[in-house]
Amino acid sequence: MNKEAAVTPIFVQKSQFPIINFFNYSLFMKLPYAEPYRIKMVEEIRQSTQEERKQWLKEADYNLFNLKSSQVFIDLLTDSGTGAMSDQQWGALMTGDESYAGSRSFEELHETVKKITDFQYLLPTHQGRAAENVLFSVLVKEGDVIPGNSHFDTTKGHIEIRKAHAIDCTIDEAFDIENLHPFKGNINLEKLEEVYKTYPKEKIPFCLITITCNSSGGQPVSLENVKAVKELSDRYGIPIYFDSARFAENAYFIKKREKGQENRSIKEIAKEVFSYGVGMTMSSKKDGLVNIGGFIALNDENIFRAASNITIIYEGFITYGGMAGRDMAALAVGLNEATEFEYLESRISQVEYLGNKLIEFGIPVQKPIGGHAVFVDSLKFLPNIPREEYPAQTLATEIYKEAGIRTVEIGTLLADRDPETRENRYPKLELVRLAIPRRTYTNNHMDYIAVAIKNVFDRRDEIKKGYQITWESEILRHFTVKLKEA
Ligand code: F0G
Repeated sequence: MNKEAAVTPIFVQKSQFPIINFFNYSLFMKLPYAEPYRIKMVEEIRQSTQEERKQWLKEADYNLFNLKSSQVFIDLLTDSGTGAMSDQQWGALMTGDESYAGSRSFEELHETVKKITDFQYLLPTHQGRAAENVLFSVLVKEGDVIPGNSHFDTTKGHIEIRKAHAIDCTIDEAFDIENLHPFKGNINLEKLEEVYKTYPKEKIPFCLITITCNSSGGQPVSLENVKAVKELSDRYGIPIYFDSARFAENAYFIKKREKGQENRSIKEIAKEVFSYGVGMTMSSKKDGLVNIGGFIALNDENIFRAASNITIIYEGFITYGGMAGRDMAALAVGLNEATEFEYLESRISQVEYLGNKLIEFGIPVQKPIGGHAVFVDSLKFLPNIPREEYPAQTLATEIYKEAGIRTVEIGTLLADRDPETRENRYPKLELVRLAIPRRTYTNNHMDYIAVAIKNVFDRRDEIKKGYQITWESEILRHFTVKLKEA
């Protein structure tokens, strides 16, 4: 036996496999991702006929929020509170401590939140918007401005209901769906500085960074941008808060896309992000991996005291704030699971899988694909529907009619009217969001969704009319709006 053969592994010996180069293992395929869990319990979902769906849609006043879940086959309305809990979380439910004050489950949650965020004070709330209500009751006054990156609608609602203004400082690249900027949730520093120069410091209680940025397509904010916003804000004496609903997904994108971050853990990255802020609001229904809950975490004792009073009035005592002890116990486990790389890799790869299928079919989607959802551009999909007839809502209803898939409009209905002029606010993008619940559907479901949307795309020229509003509420109209065919 010659010397080379002695050190060459048996499967690449030249005589046996002459086409394989010893120094190049490219014939070996990279293993695809696979879910780091298996399924222990299933829930039946039922298909319906197109005739049934057309009737149900009419009865729902063409508002998909009015559909019964039994009328939906695949529900992509939201990724909020719709995910599957792990066996560890279900186990934790049984150990929940339901004491009114000083519950052990609160202690577990508090320790976990401190470990992940480094914020010392914790106030549980019943969900994310309740955290906004409590915090903004303390911090936001009439006439204030709150700059940030495309504030979420409940966040904007809680600002505007206090007669204050949310100012969107998102980078312009976010509004071009083809632009492949890796961090389309970033804040434009010039726009932000303009706000800081225009308004006196007393009118700007804080700058709000939403991670990931839901309204601009589930797009992440880079660590570099957070640091730069912090530096600029420090110069003007403005503190930073995070709307952290999808903070773990944001940390995943930083690890995957930002130079120098690839070897850090998700928990390390998340902690560094939070270190540039003074506090956070959280909707635990997303990266908390639970079905209900939220919290505020912060370091300032005075703000904590003031917020405690509001919590007691609106939510409950400060060690449960509207959450059952068992839900806090499951949340403590969920926060740990959501900040594991393997979980995030499978979660975000599934969203990307669906996005890539749609791209293959030529469907216009927001690129790069976001963390929790794929966003379809209805202005490109249905160019014949005028904006006054709500093209994104029209597309969402067509997708439902086609295959029983419920999605949500992120367009003019959601953007509401200007609180002063009462005119429709036409956002830069008119999107349909396909939000993917966590650990809930398989890639077969993703294939089904992709083909359903392709079928609508193939018959897009036949869709000639949108909708008109017959009734709407003063604020957050999209949840309850009634529509008729135009
Ligand atoms: N902030 C962001 C970025 C959100 O996406 C949400 C909710 C909230 C705050 C409010 O939290 O629902 O617990 O009160 N987003 C859901 C969605 C409703 O479908 O994107 P909540």
